[in-house]
Amino acid sequence: MEKQIEQVLIDAKNEIAGVSDKQALMQFSTEFLGKNGRLAGLMKQLRDLPIEQKRVVGEKLNMLRDDLGRMVKDKDAEIEQALLNAKLSSERVDVTIPVKPLPYGTLHPIEALKKDLIDYFLARGYELKDGGDIETDYYCFEALNVPKEHPAREMQDTFYIDSDTVLRTHTSAMQVRTMESQQPPIKMISTGNAYRIDEVDATHSPIFNQLEILVVDKNVTMADLIGVLEDLIKHLLGEKTEIRVRPSYFPFTEPSIEVDAVKDGEYIEMLGAGMVHPKVLEMSGIDSKVYKGFAAGLGLDRLAMLKYGVTDLRELYENDVSLLKQVK
Ligand code: DAH
Repeated sequence: MEKQIEQVLIDAKNEIAGVSDKQALMQFSTEFLGKNGRLAGLMKQLRDLPIEQKRVVGEKLNMLRDDLGRMVKDKDAEIEQALLNAKLSSERVDVTIPVKPLPYGTLHPIEALKKDLIDYFLARGYELKDGGDIETDYYCFEALNVPKEHPAREMQDTFYIDSDTVLRTHTSAMQVRTMESQQPPIKMISTGNAYRIDEVDATHSPIFNQLEILVVDKNVTMADLIGVLEDLIKHLLGEKTEIRVRPSYFPFTEPSIEVDAVKDGEYIEMLGAGMVHPKVLEMSGIDSKVYKGFAAGLGLDRLAMLKYGVTDLRELYENDVSLLKQVK
């Protein structure tokens, strides 16, 4: 019997060498290890052996079973590896082939302008405050000294959500929210949408973008305000630009001014500004005898038109790629 066992092992070694796929391996496995296979045949013969041989031969058969099992396992791993290698080489990606460049997107002109302004002010030590588009009557009007009978409070101008809640008509509401939450020195800007009931035309839209500036500290003067605005306008429209300051009226500033840029002999209305009204400071919990403040509000849409040579405001909202491409 021991000879037979040796023979089975020799045959198995010869056969497994020629196995190269899963199907052949299955056949091999059935032939040697199957229910009616060669190992099973030898096991049957074991029963008839005298007891003293049973142990020795039994041990050899166990070894044969282990050898055959290992052969199948190793071959299986070998076949798997070969399959994987074949797959990897057939699906190989040539990373050296040059790719077609993807066209870059650009920022929307208003977004680009906003980003530029934010960078400008952050570099000068201002904080950026984010406010909500929905505002209460108190922050939008009352706390800014906008009296009840002021036309801005009319239904024709303001989108009311309910009698106490509005879509903010200006970003100035953020002045109050900032002053309520911190004591001076304050240097802040806030940008975002503002809303007013308006027919859409080449220069008007019911949604527009504003930038708010607020500085509150001891010894803040109108000269500081004008200096800040002049530098800002030069930054936006070029060093050669001059400014013109006109007296104006806003309920939340006293005195109030409007500032124009003077470019190529033309006056371009830029912004409203002024010294924060003492009443506004007091309502927000700031001692107006100790502190003074200046504030300004700048519309970004018309500025973007000016900067990017857009003649109709509506073009800014039509997502025309040829316009967006001009912003670099
Ligand atoms: N809120 C004003 C508007 O929307 C603009 C403005 C004027 C803002 C004077 C200010 C300011 O901060 O001081 O027309």
